[in-house]
Amino acid sequence: MEALMTQLAQVLHMNQGNGETSYDRNSAVGRKAISIAKPVIEEAVLKILGSDVMGIESMGIADLGCSSGPNTFLLMSHIINVIHTRFRTGLDHPSPVTELRVYLNDLFSTDFNSIFMSLPSFYTKLKQDYDNGRDSYQHLIHPLISAVPGSFYGPLFPRKNMHFVHSSFSLHWLSQISDGLNNKGKIYISKSSPQRVLDAYSMQFQKDFSVFLSSRAQEIVNGGRMVLSFLARPSTNPTAEHGMYVLELLAHALMAMASNGLIKEEKVDSFNMPCYAPCAEELIMVLQKEGSFITDRLEAFEVDWDTVAPDDLDHDQVAFDDDDDQVIFSGQQVANNIRVVTESILEPHFGKEMMDDLFQKYAEEVSKHLSSCVTRPKYTVLVISLIRNF
Ligand SMILES: C[S@@+](CC[C@H](N)C(=O)[O-])C[C@H]1O[C@@H](n2cnc3c(N)ncnc32)[C@H](O)[C@@H]1O
Repeated sequence: MEALMTQLAQVLHMNQGNGETSYDRNSAVGRKAISIAKPVIEEAVLKILGSDVMGIESMGIADLGCSSGPNTFLLMSHIINVIHTRFRTGLDHPSPVTELRVYLNDLFSTDFNSIFMSLPSFYTKLKQDYDNGRDSYQHLIHPLISAVPGSFYGPLFPRKNMHFVHSSFSLHWLSQISDGLNNKGKIYISKSSPQRVLDAYSMQFQKDFSVFLSSRAQEIVNGGRMVLSFLARPSTNPTAEHGMYVLELLAHALMAMASNGLIKEEKVDSFNMPCYAPCAEELIMVLQKEGSFITDRLEAFEVDWDTVAPDDLDHDQVAFDDDDDQVIFSGQQVANNIRVVTESILEPHFGKEMMDDLFQKYAEEVSKHLSSCVTRPKYTVLVISLIRNF
């Protein structure tokens, strides 16, 4: 079990570069989640600035599960902008923050180099945005950005060092899931899954999230805050159909390949995607049991499966009617979005040479599903704002 966990932490990464199947070009769902959570993030940061938390003059902020961009930069500029806007009036209200430490965390195989390469343009944009405001660049606190490779299911930072921790679309990744659950023809919780599969997923999530909370509890100062966005499910019933049905369709594609003799059926039975969409009740239960954080705010949002652009709020642009081309386009978009986040885990199990065929078949399965849907399929996102409570 330990070996599997080590392997996942070393293997998982979003697809790199900026090609057609890169995270860079297929991260609109995550970007949408960040933009939806912006008011919650802003409120949390302002509340920290308005309180007298320890050591705020050297403010520590972190994005956990930052991936290799571009969403982490969107988030960082938002936070930095909130801090500067709050104290823009300058001399009347000198900012209590004189140093801004920014930590970007993700697993070991993440392309941190691509983050570093983007830093010069990030700094330039920050300066331009600031110069466009009323104050001059000399008032801008230059963020000191560091990368912190490692699993957030364990210690990452020195004790009592952080003031604001953010994580978006990352905590649904489990540290591990057993490959011996014999989840026949499925790769995630499904209506046909035996109870042991449901229990294994739920227990692993509770254990992981609890470790996450107790690790952050050591690192965040009293009164410090976290905003966490989860891929979640809207009901307490884990087998009710919801956004994670994307993985049921991926299982269909794998089983179709097994029927054609391209992969062995046992390979599908023994693979379980190490991710889990909790419901709000489950989150609250773990938070209360672990006890280090108070919940300040909890909100649920929906994001379309086939979100293509960050601020695409016009849901009518893609209509699911008789327009076959549109459905094919959306199926391909969903397939690309899922490929960039799952390929690094699927490849070692099913083989690199299978990936193009698999995701071609998957795009067809998704299109077929979309054309049969009465309402647009959506992911549920839970955004939770927490306060460190000693
Ligand atoms: C879908 S991406 C989200 C990236 C970014 N936060 C966004 O919103 O676009 C999920 C990220 O979580 C990271 N991740 C998963 N498990 C992790 C862990 N245990 N520790 C740190 N990062 C993890 C993955 O490597 C991946 O980059």
